[in-house]
Amino acid sequence: MLSDTGNRLSRLMPPVLLTTLLCFVLGVLLPRLLPVAPSAPLHLILALGIMPLIFAAMIYFVPVLTRSGAPESRVLLNIFGGLLAGVILAIGLFMIFHLYLLAAAVALVTVIGLSHWMRQRAKQTFGSPHPGLLWYRLALLMLGLALAAIILGFIWPQQWLELRRLHLHLNILGFVGLTTLGTLRVLLPTVGGFQDQQAGPWLMREWRLLVAGTILIAAGAAWLPSMSLAGLILWLAPLTKLIHDTLWQQRNTLWLVNGAAPSLAIAITGLIISLLIGTAHGMGRFTTTHMSELFILMFLMPLVTGAATHLLPLWLWPGAQAEQQTECRQILGRFALIRSLLFLLSGVLLVLDLTWAWIPALLAMVQFISLVIWQTIHSRSTQSI
Ligand code: HEM
Ligand code: HEM
Repeated sequence: MLSDTGNRLSRLMPPVLLTTLLCFVLGVLLPRLLPVAPSAPLHLILALGIMPLIFAAMIYFVPVLTRSGAPESRVLLNIFGGLLAGVILAIGLFMIFHLYLLAAAVALVTVIGLSHWMRQRAKQTFGSPHPGLLWYRLALLMLGLALAAIILGFIWPQQWLELRRLHLHLNILGFVGLTTLGTLRVLLPTVGGFQDQQAGPWLMREWRLLVAGTILIAAGAAWLPSMSLAGLILWLAPLTKLIHDTLWQQRNTLWLVNGAAPSLAIAITGLIISLLIGTAHGMGRFTTTHMSELFILMFLMPLVTGAATHLLPLWLWPGAQAEQQTECRQILGRFALIRSLLFLLSGVLLVLDLTWAWIPALLAMVQFISLVIWQTIHSRSTQSI
């Protein structure tokens, strides 16, 4: 039986997910329809869309990682803190630029609140917490540093461009990278139905290289490009192990046409491609003004749709409604490989600088959103009978 807060969290997750998915569509469409600075639609996706979803996912998974009870209801307020910061930032970047300071302050308060809660949960754990908890805490630390960097840019305008680069790499690789890789390593075996003996040791060891690598890439991108190459080398070792243990060794269980697994496998592939293109871009070997969009298309879109294919059924049909969960998962995951390849294709077309590059991804995303809305309505109407 789920507790009241557990139930409330399960009911909150589908609308938060839907907000993220709609932000993907708006963030892709708006710059094509209106003359806006690129950072506005980008933050619609990354700050209003992804940041609260990550907070919500952390709140959902931390009790599992610490083998403790459902989150206290006040902790759910952090999801609204993330949404509020995202809304203020979206308004700010579209209309009143300096509102970003208020957004950063709200996000910082939320980050501190969440980190404090995670520390308490770590202390309450019987035995030691799952190493995934440390990844979440480090990811929040990276977001906190990224926010501090962009606030510092206001106080120290001479360093604005450098601090902006620091902010974006800490966020993309540190906050998003650590959260998603830490979660993926736990989620992949569940989704693919295989045993991953290496997951525990990998989570226990590899965060050091990823954190050090992220700091070198971010500081290097800001002040000393050659230093960021050293950071990339640190990133490559854990990633190679991850690819070997999952994408290669479990190729028969992950590379399927249907289900959550192919989307997650494509997401990891997209991350590698983005990192390589990011490196070429950083070294001046390759020019694109679309680096962040590329990361969204090739990594975040397959990742979010893949994770949602597995998790949304659990939120829509909480408790032991296994039959309905399986049916919902099959519907969401139908032809997921093709959907995720469309995201990847848009990324490739973007690299080729084609103006219509975003169309395949948009079609794939609209198809997934229709399924999510349909499934949500179906579960609500069935359960209220
Ligand atoms: C409330 C939280 C956030 C605030 C207040 C904030 C603020 C800012 C500001 C003021 C800029 C400079 C914009 C410009 O020069 O036009 C910026 C750039 C950027 N930020 Fe954030 N940000 C936040 C969250 C995030 C998150 C969560 C991510 C990624 C996951 C992110 C990624 C980026 C990127 C990629 C850029 C560069 C945009 C471009 O190339 O135009 N930000 N941010
Ligand atoms: C995959 C995620 C990545 C994204 C989304 C990304 C995004 C960006 C963006 C938007 C800029 C331009 C910032 C500006 O307008 O000033 C930039 C600059 C830079 N990036 Fe990245 N990047 C990524 C990965 C990397 C990696 C892996 C490296 C290093 C190995 C790197 C090194 C650099 C460097 C050195 C610069 C500064 C280039 C210059 O001085 O013009 N980036 N990145």
